[in-house]
Amino acid sequence: MSGIGVYICHCGQNIAGVIDVQALRERVACRSEATVVKTNVFCCSEPGQKEIQEDIKEHGLERVLVAACSPRLHEVTFRRTIAQAGLNPYLLEMANIREQCSWVHRGPEALDKALDLILMGLARLVRLIPLQDRVVPVTRRALVIGGGVGGLSAALELADCGVPVVLVEKSVHLGGQVLRWNIPVPNADPLSCFVRPLITRAMLHPRIRVLDGSTLEDVQGTIGRFTASIQGAAGSSTEEVGAVVVATGFEPYNPDLSRYPFASLPQVMTSVQLEEIFRKEKPGHPATPSALEGVRTVAFLQCVGSRLDEEYPHCSRICCAITLKQALALRALGIEVQVFHRDIRLYDKNQEEELYGRARRLGVQFHRGTLKAVEPDSEGGLRICWHDEFLQSTLCVPTDRLICAVGLRPRSDAESLRRVLRLAVSQDGYLLEAHPKLHPLESAVEGVFLAGSCQGPKDVRETVAASVGAAAKAYQLLCKDHLLLDGMIAVIDRDRCTGCGTCAAECPYQAIALREDEKGTTKAHVETAACKGCGVCAGCCPTEAADHLGFPLEALKAMVDAALAEGAAQKILAFCCHWCAYAGADAAGVSRIPYPANVRIVRVPCSGRISARLVLHTFKKGASRVMVAGCHPPGDCHYISGNLRFESRVPRIRKLLSKKGYDPERFSYHWVSATEGPQFQHIVRRLAEALESEQKKTASSAPNAAAGDEGGR
Ligand code: FES
Repeated sequence: MSGIGVYICHCGQNIAGVIDVQALRERVACRSEATVVKTNVFCCSEPGQKEIQEDIKEHGLERVLVAACSPRLHEVTFRRTIAQAGLNPYLLEMANIREQCSWVHRGPEALDKALDLILMGLARLVRLIPLQDRVVPVTRRALVIGGGVGGLSAALELADCGVPVVLVEKSVHLGGQVLRWNIPVPNADPLSCFVRPLITRAMLHPRIRVLDGSTLEDVQGTIGRFTASIQGAAGSSTEEVGAVVVATGFEPYNPDLSRYPFASLPQVMTSVQLEEIFRKEKPGHPATPSALEGVRTVAFLQCVGSRLDEEYPHCSRICCAITLKQALALRALGIEVQVFHRDIRLYDKNQEEELYGRARRLGVQFHRGTLKAVEPDSEGGLRICWHDEFLQSTLCVPTDRLICAVGLRPRSDAESLRRVLRLAVSQDGYLLEAHPKLHPLESAVEGVFLAGSCQGPKDVRETVAASVGAAAKAYQLLCKDHLLLDGMIAVIDRDRCTGCGTCAAECPYQAIALREDEKGTTKAHVETAACKGCGVCAGCCPTEAADHLGFPLEALKAMVDAALAEGAAQKILAFCCHWCAYAGADAAGVSRIPYPANVRIVRVPCSGRISARLVLHTFKKGASRVMVAGCHPPGDCHYISGNLRFESRVPRIRKLLSKKGYDPERFSYHWVSATEGPQFQHIVRRLAEALESEQKKTASSAPNAAAGDEGGR
């Protein structure tokens, strides 16, 4: 094999601050596989990429390995880099020495693991073959889910660019939550004044078809050509679209009486209910709303449903500003206002002066501290007892009404939508972007974009900005006639195929059919346009005739061999699916959650790619523990049911291990989502502890036993 370039990234101090990259370079340079081995402060920077491109030309490199951050972050970048220099983009490998090494390990262990990861990468890289992207036509239509401000903005942007849009809204009214928060900020128009024109424009737009009172029931297909099933009042319909924009918004928090028992008192209402009281009056009507007649004092309690430690630790971002505009509306009616808070958080332009400064000047009193009690008093009002942080004492004040400034929550139907679209969610239940900094508007599912507060609390300005951005992203895709799809799909070795049909039965996409060949023999055949590259067929094929072009069996075995070449009996080999478990391990790195350094992770497209024989091979190479980790069942697998296909294989795997003399208890499988860094840490720690205690036991019962003998047996 000629010409492999290895580039080890410092990533500033992210890698070089932990790993001695020069020492690593020297250890890699000894390997015969590597022609050029270099370090670079930032491989992904323009000079870093240029250096790779120049080396490809100057040294005739044919393959490139970049040891840097996660391939989930920059695999596409470096594929493009090498393609621009004339190489096949699939002849690239990344060794994840940042998220899965320098961010979670320290000292010599980190250096050893980084070397292993590079050697594992080289083992795969030399076995990769040049692949071609598949060309698929794009359906030039968009589906926008959600008819609030976000959905309307996205739909109008797309339609104005000439893209036909199907806008699906669950309720029978467009406008969404914003219309519920209509008390105007001083000197500004109520939100309805700009939402209603959006609704009118969308309803009248020749390229927007509004399906209100409708829900999305199912989505099949892939980027550029989705088929959506929509259930409406008049029955169900099927829409062919090329991209999906999700703009389903949020729900206000409904106070939980076990946490806020006083919320059921008649003198207590939520900030949403206060808006409703005002909404029932004529806009701009100066008189006190009838529901507030006789009310002289109102108190606001901030952070109701927000910043609740484990249950919901986040700030809802918009409640403080809402309280201030409501407080000003009440002051305009001559009502005394007090605000009980932990901090007032205002981040929008001018809000501090416009709202907070004005409220203070108009006599709104702010108390920072902790709520102790809310009780009815003898005069029909309430007594609020509060530990004041500045006075360092508990005060009790009377008030006629208490307004709970409620936070935001993911919509209650977000879970069913998430399942239909196979999206990931963050721990607080909001839809998860592909990357918080680099891909904030894309979901992990290609062709599905996120707009507005379905991702997390946002104010109207941010919602509109995100929605216009998501529409622009969708347009980037829909303005093309064709898309190039990944060439890493399934392949069948016709000589090995016995035509048993196992792969055809297990394929989640019906992308494999049995066909008779010219000799009248039945063989499996991959419909390349339908194949999504999960590798389930390769995982289940009894004769190893089905394989995966990007993760071929020989490459996976070679990675295992490289990982276990030294100290196998001390190592845990983890096969992690790209979409969730591998991302979960990355999440541990991003949050600097350390875990034992003796785990070696092999990335696979889906847990369904793992076959019984691959697990057996790993034990044969001496691994102390083998784990497979994938997306949570049933619905999180990015290939519909790859995780369940794998799980159904587990009894067979255990049986095979027993038969071959390996303890099946040393094999385990786990479900880890893309955000479950702590869960990944927990799993690896448990396995490492089990290994350690087993080794202690072995050492005490046979003190002279040689370490490292056969590992798994
Ligand atoms: Fe994660 Fe299938 S993609 S288990």
